[in-house]
Amino acid sequence: MARISFAPHPHRLGWVAKDTWVLQQRVLKPGAVFLASRGEKIMRMKLVVVLVAIALTAACHAQTLTGRWAAVDNQKLDNGELQRWTLDVTQTGNELKGRVIGLGYSVDVKGTMSASHFEIFGWESKTPFVVGDAVNGELRGKQWGNAFVAKPATPADELPRYDFIEPPPLHKVAYNGLAKTPPMGWNSWNLFENKVDDATVRTMADAMVSSGMRDAGYIYVNIDDTWEGMRDAKGNLQANHKFSDMKALADYVHSKGLKLGIYSSPGPRTCGSYPASYGHEAQDANTFAAWGIDYLKYDWCSAGNIYKNDALQPVYQKMGDALQAAGRPIVYSLCEYGMGAVEKWGPEVGGNLWRTTGDIRDEWESMIENIEKQVPTAAFAGPGHWNDPDMLEIGNGHMSEDEYRTHMSLWSLAAAPLLAGNDLRTMSASTKSILMNREVIAIDQDQLGKQASPVKSGAFETWVKPLADGSVAVGVVNMGAVAAPATVKASDLQLKGAVKSARDLWLHKDVHFEGGAYTATVPAHGVLLLRVSCK
Ligand code: GLA
Repeated sequence: MARISFAPHPHRLGWVAKDTWVLQQRVLKPGAVFLASRGEKIMRMKLVVVLVAIALTAACHAQTLTGRWAAVDNQKLDNGELQRWTLDVTQTGNELKGRVIGLGYSVDVKGTMSASHFEIFGWESKTPFVVGDAVNGELRGKQWGNAFVAKPATPADELPRYDFIEPPPLHKVAYNGLAKTPPMGWNSWNLFENKVDDATVRTMADAMVSSGMRDAGYIYVNIDDTWEGMRDAKGNLQANHKFSDMKALADYVHSKGLKLGIYSSPGPRTCGSYPASYGHEAQDANTFAAWGIDYLKYDWCSAGNIYKNDALQPVYQKMGDALQAAGRPIVYSLCEYGMGAVEKWGPEVGGNLWRTTGDIRDEWESMIENIEKQVPTAAFAGPGHWNDPDMLEIGNGHMSEDEYRTHMSLWSLAAAPLLAGNDLRTMSASTKSILMNREVIAIDQDQLGKQASPVKSGAFETWVKPLADGSVAVGVVNMGAVAAPATVKASDLQLKGAVKSARDLWLHKDVHFEGGAYTATVPAHGVLLLRVSCK
């Protein structure tokens, strides 16, 4: 079979032939031609022509992606800039391996090429984040849903380079006295992504009050990525056109008895490629304080293009110091996806919470994966410093009610921050009843600040959390696909005496332990959540 392969040429657009092609003749046996009639000869020649055509067609499809590609997204960023990234890739057979470097991130990738179609996976193995086709020497497709066109990279396509700034020597940043219980609030990312603006935040703050969320304890209204504009002549970071006046927005949010959060990165760019705080830490901390910001989520993103993971602690310490120097109480939320054993040094850099996992998705598997991933960090949670398995997906529509109840229960048993990620303006009664279940919130907000860990038995996972008043919260999650009876034994709860009272926190009713045990049916992916007391 003919084999021909193409590679992107670094200095020219389009494909150039890399290997010469070889046609393997397999039509006639030697000598057979002398015995053939004229009609047979014509037939055979036709056959050869057809085979050559088939071989050439196949060859054209057997392109290789090997090389460096420069991509530009069709859609501009909200600050008017072009979203750009490069793909360095090697193709071996159908397998692709390489690295994608964007303005705001870099990630090792793997993928497959089938005829002209490619699928490339980065942070997670189930959904490709770059998909497309090689067409006429270009790659066309979607990256995270955004259409792009990539061409063989030229020197002009190099992404901006930044001077290396040496991370500071380590020291301890004093505790800021905040987040004595896990922070509660709302964040724009899970549902709105880049569709967040001033009006969304204001109306969300209104809904936080009118829905009862504020009174249930949800205080922080947090703007995630894509608010950023450009820096002015003095280097001060401006908001983009979606946020006309951050100070006025903060005043509005404060007038509702709420607090305002914002987002940046220790790298030059955020994960969404917007300008971030690299080299401007003190200046940005001062800007945030002057605007009246109360919470900063600081997301590693493009810091990974500059620093190795061993620099995580000093780099986060730099902003920890800057926030303290800015003189306003600002909750400091580290977002580094669980890298670098953050739970061991998070409090040292002034962190009040730190991510223990990659990004959550509104799916059962993702929610369970995130909460289980942070189990080894349990001993490091406590008042003022919390493990963060990412924000809530409750009410976003892709899990069942039972699954959302389990989500809320697990986050509360794990003393996780409760940052709603849904549209508070249009919440269903069911979503409200889950997010605002005060008996469950009380488990999350318990003063002792213990993070539960699971014990697995068959289809059940049992999470036990000691509480400040000597009682315990126990959650039994049915991981299986069918409803099943679960038994909670008092002897498994490390109570300091016999059970005096017990309450089902989702049914809102008292239940009775008989013979030292309580049994109830737990729906598939559902939870039995009890508060059990010996006083
Ligand atoms: C990262 C974070 C997310 C979100 C996005 C914004 O992926 O983990 O929570 O902040 O960046 O770009």
